[in-house]
Amino acid sequence: MTEPTKQTAESYVVLAVDDQPMIIEAVRRLLVSDTNAQVHGCSKAVDALAQAIKLRPDVILQDLIMPDGDGLNLVSAYRSHPVLAETSVVVLSSKDDAQIKADAFARGAADYIEKLPPLIEFVARVQHHARASRAQKQLVATAVAIARSEEQAEWAETLIFRMVEMARLRDPTETAVHVKRVAGISKILYNEWAHKHILAEAEIESQQELLRIAAILHDVGKVGIADAILKKTGKLDSVELSEMERHAEIGESVFSGSRSVLDDPAAEVALCHHEKWDGTGYPNKLRGENIPLFGRIVAVADVYDALRSRRSYKEPWPRERIEKFFADEAGKHFDPELTEILLSNLDKIESVCLEFSDVENDSK
Ligand SMILES: [Fe+2]
Ligand SMILES: [Fe+2]
Repeated sequence: MTEPTKQTAESYVVLAVDDQPMIIEAVRRLLVSDTNAQVHGCSKAVDALAQAIKLRPDVILQDLIMPDGDGLNLVSAYRSHPVLAETSVVVLSSKDDAQIKADAFARGAADYIEKLPPLIEFVARVQHHARASRAQKQLVATAVAIARSEEQAEWAETLIFRMVEMARLRDPTETAVHVKRVAGISKILYNEWAHKHILAEAEIESQQELLRIAAILHDVGKVGIADAILKKTGKLDSVELSEMERHAEIGESVFSGSRSVLDDPAAEVALCHHEKWDGTGYPNKLRGENIPLFGRIVAVADVYDALRSRRSYKEPWPRERIEKFFADEAGKHFDPELTEILLSNLDKIESVCLEFSDVENDSK
């Protein structure tokens, strides 16, 4: 039996199905001028489908009248087999009959060639159908790869929200809608910042996606903080406060030992989202641009969302009060450039926040 042939990028496989060995030989000779063509022959209609399935050719040249089977029925059989979905089926016949030609096309033939045409025309037609078949195979392979990567991205995102859900069991303020809003705001801030700094579109695309996921996980380190502190309703004393502040370093440690492109940005955001531009933040009292960009962005987004939301200890702040707060804190708590970007994009930011408003969760 014929084995599937190894192919290079340019090579293609032709299966000639004809009861007359001399026609198969003629096809072989016609295509000998094209070194990319690998010709296989099959002289029995009963074997043709099985051989085609095994060989997975780019082009099948199918005779119409064979003693042990009907060529048109074979065209239908190839067309309905999923393994041959991208194979070009070409009828090769001595009959010049419009009705038969129409029937062949109706059954899914890609072409009808009266045997045997001049060399130059024959080779050109076979090459054309081989290219069409390879292009179709490439298209299907790309679609499969995209579907697979989309599926994997969906699994990853589901797992990430499960992690957020675990953190919320410990700290009820860390709701899914809060982290989605922080992620959405961070993405807008980064996008505006990156365009202002004339970064390449491809880099902006990939970085903003990493930031979005890292922002979702900004407070995941809170899982390492004791319940007595996390769930305390009154004000924390200084010891409790410094224990609470450990969530930044615990969060960083969750993403240590960089195993994927997400780990470094997630570690950076977890560690640096409470640093302040003037060096009075925690845990490392970093100052200005020594604070990584993603940390500076999530710092703005996290505080913005906290101020606009209802919490157990406060009502949502009105927009003017938030604007004044950020204007006052630019260059103190927050990166002045990012604050400026926030204040000039508030409508866009609010529309993202409204997408993720959940009355029940929002009010926590
Ligand atoms: Fe935090
Ligand atoms: Fe937060």
